[in-house]
Amino acid sequence: MPGIIVVGSQWGDEGKGKATDQMGDRVDFCVRYSGGNNAGHTLVVDGEKYAMHLLPSGILSPNSTPVIGNGVVIDLGVLFHEIDVLTSRGVDCSNLKVSSNAHIITSYHRTMDKVTERFAGKRRIGTTGRGIGPTYSDKINRMGIRVQDLFDEEHLRQKVEAALDQKNQILVKIYNRRHIEPDEIVEELLSYGERLRPMVADTVRLLNDGLDEGKIVLFEGAQAHHLDVDHGTYPYVTSSNPTAGGACTGTGVGPTRINRVIGIAKAYTTRVGEGPFPTELLDEAGEKLRADGGEFGVTTGRPRRCGWFDALVVGASATANAFTDVFLTKLDILSGWDRIPVCVAYDVDGVRHDHLPMSQQDFTNATPIYEELDGWHEDISGCREFADLPVKAQDYVKRLEELIGTRISGIGVGPSREQTVMVHDLID
Ligand code: GDP
Ligand code: IMO
Ligand code: MG
Repeated sequence: MPGIIVVGSQWGDEGKGKATDQMGDRVDFCVRYSGGNNAGHTLVVDGEKYAMHLLPSGILSPNSTPVIGNGVVIDLGVLFHEIDVLTSRGVDCSNLKVSSNAHIITSYHRTMDKVTERFAGKRRIGTTGRGIGPTYSDKINRMGIRVQDLFDEEHLRQKVEAALDQKNQILVKIYNRRHIEPDEIVEELLSYGERLRPMVADTVRLLNDGLDEGKIVLFEGAQAHHLDVDHGTYPYVTSSNPTAGGACTGTGVGPTRINRVIGIAKAYTTRVGEGPFPTELLDEAGEKLRADGGEFGVTTGRPRRCGWFDALVVGASATANAFTDVFLTKLDILSGWDRIPVCVAYDVDGVRHDHLPMSQQDFTNATPIYEELDGWHEDISGCREFADLPVKAQDYVKRLEELIGTRISGIGVGPSREQTVMVHDLID
């Protein structure tokens, strides 16, 4: 009864979509457990490129049931658009199941996200502007709108009115924006209700029954450990728990049902938005990584900040998520360097740190201490076995494995499904 969690180990965009898709054909359920359409997961299957924001990547695998768990926040316009685009490309989305407890992103959440960011000026987070933070805030404040609320008009109206009583004060008096009428929100949400209704399911029971029957459930993480609201570089984080524990709370599957936790790590580091990033490269080396890796956001198109691999960042994720395996992506992008620096410790005001400092201030002031590894120049995108990789590339992987303290079970050597070197099976 394997339960397998996929977690981003850096600041997102590690290639979680590709890693998830890799296992897709052997998986019975593929579940998104946190975040919303702030995620952008790219998959390349049979030469076709797909960008998923809300739908689980497993939707491309016909034998796997795609599920959106209770921990996800859903923008219904985006969900239906994504379904329509995939359907027009021949992908069957009719089996999608959506939790009745998942929260809904409304237009006032998107507006709040944008105005608070603009108001914050230099102190902004650099959010994706998709309404994620305000929707999770309403959830925690116990004034959110859930999927199940869409099926009772009077109840929905009361909830929207209560939320807008407060939001309109803030929007009009603080941000000088227009007053939002409850009717426009209620009408929009009701218009989605009928289409959504057949997808709504008791996803807790569905997944637990599946596990009882020996089915394989893959929990597809979005965002990453260092964007987690508890474990990340707060306040420069997202507003949910993308870490492994979030897979349990975000789906209603208990921790004893989890067999594997697979950390996805890029062979270097990237980050989108504001916040500390010790190994960031602001020179031509960073530009080369960005150009070679095509490091531009799938969701917002923003250029990603790029830097060398940071073993303290991935090591902290390995510890807190109890990784059983790491899937290392984009090793092919590192071809062509004579030497590749890897961060093995930090210097903070003259003091060496071998682990992530406890304080965010120290993390912000950390200067990386690098170990320089030998690079390789061969194109590795055609390699399929570990032994096919140039020896220097093998050594790079082995050294990262030592530094992270977790075995590297898969290695990405290109964006498409088959461009992978499997060292250990991820599902046994
Ligand atoms: P996610 O958000 O973690 O799913 O990652 P994104 O899809 O946002 O970003 C990862 C990017 O790298 C996408 O464009 C993928 O197609 C691509 N990618 C994933 N794995 C590899 C790999 O091993 N090599 C190369 N060259 N590209 C990869
Ligand atoms: P995937 O799943 C990279 C970042 C945003 C911003 C911060 C908060 O593709 O890895 P939010 O809109 O969530 O309130 O923004 O988090 N962020 C991501 N960065 N990949 C993502 O998702 C991200 N989702 C959010 O850039 O810094
Ligand atoms: Mg992404």
